[in-house]
Amino acid sequence: MEVIIQDNPEEGCILGAKIIAKKIREKPDAVLGLATGRTPERLYRELVRLHREEDLDFSQITTFNLDEYVGLSPEHDQSYRYFMNEHLFRHINIDLAKTNVPAGNAADLHAECRDYEARITAAGGIDVQLLGLGRNGHIGFNEPTGSLRSRTWIKILSEQTLNDNAAVFGNRDSMPKHAVTMGIGTIMEARQIVLLAFGPAKVRAVMDMIEGPLAAVCPGSALQEHPRATVVLDDSSAAGLRYTDHYRWVDHNKLTWQRYD
Ligand code: F6R
Repeated sequence: MEVIIQDNPEEGCILGAKIIAKKIREKPDAVLGLATGRTPERLYRELVRLHREEDLDFSQITTFNLDEYVGLSPEHDQSYRYFMNEHLFRHINIDLAKTNVPAGNAADLHAECRDYEARITAAGGIDVQLLGLGRNGHIGFNEPTGSLRSRTWIKILSEQTLNDNAAVFGNRDSMPKHAVTMGIGTIMEARQIVLLAFGPAKVRAVMDMIEGPLAAVCPGSALQEHPRATVVLDDSSAAGLRYTDHYRWVDHNKLTWQRYD
């Protein structure tokens, strides 16, 4: 796992966007795995800017989002489909028919999970998967103790996740208690992974993910086994790391791309 520490989340998001934009320019029909949440909002703004000002072309791109709340329709303003439309898709020249978010309101959710896996395979697999990190170490909505080999499935949200995300639903009672999520096995098949984690609330999860044992209690630790995973942190999320000699504080403007191929 390659760990890059930036001064602040803004810099981290711009770096993340650069990595994705580089893939799009190299492979115009790339398959992107996308995440929602507070962390990547700035990254999506940067991709929109690159589209508007630097001709970044999404016309042949296919996307697969990590997850969706069970029971929410795509029109619900807290659904992840809605989030993606608002933060990225409606601002760029992507073909909406090539954007995939699990259907949290499917009549048969197990069939939806199987179908989602089949669609990823039919698209040729994911070239770059973007991830955030939950305070409890989750990736996608793979909460602690799930199988590290899981495929797209339905997960019960943990107390921590319910508490962290309830505010946007007004209260906990109106928040879904389950989500459809790519499994850890699904995520690990992406050819390249970029995980962003910023802020003091992520210190513990970052320590467990990078320096803890590979263990299902910290789903993010699975990335230790990935051949091409880049973790982008900021000073505050990296504050608990011990082996700092191995990590790099870098100015993303000085990155050479060869280093990240
Ligand atoms: C979102 C997702 C989650 C979030 C994580 C961090 O699609 O899969 O794993 O990345 O919960 O959320 P934020 O970014 O809101 O701290």
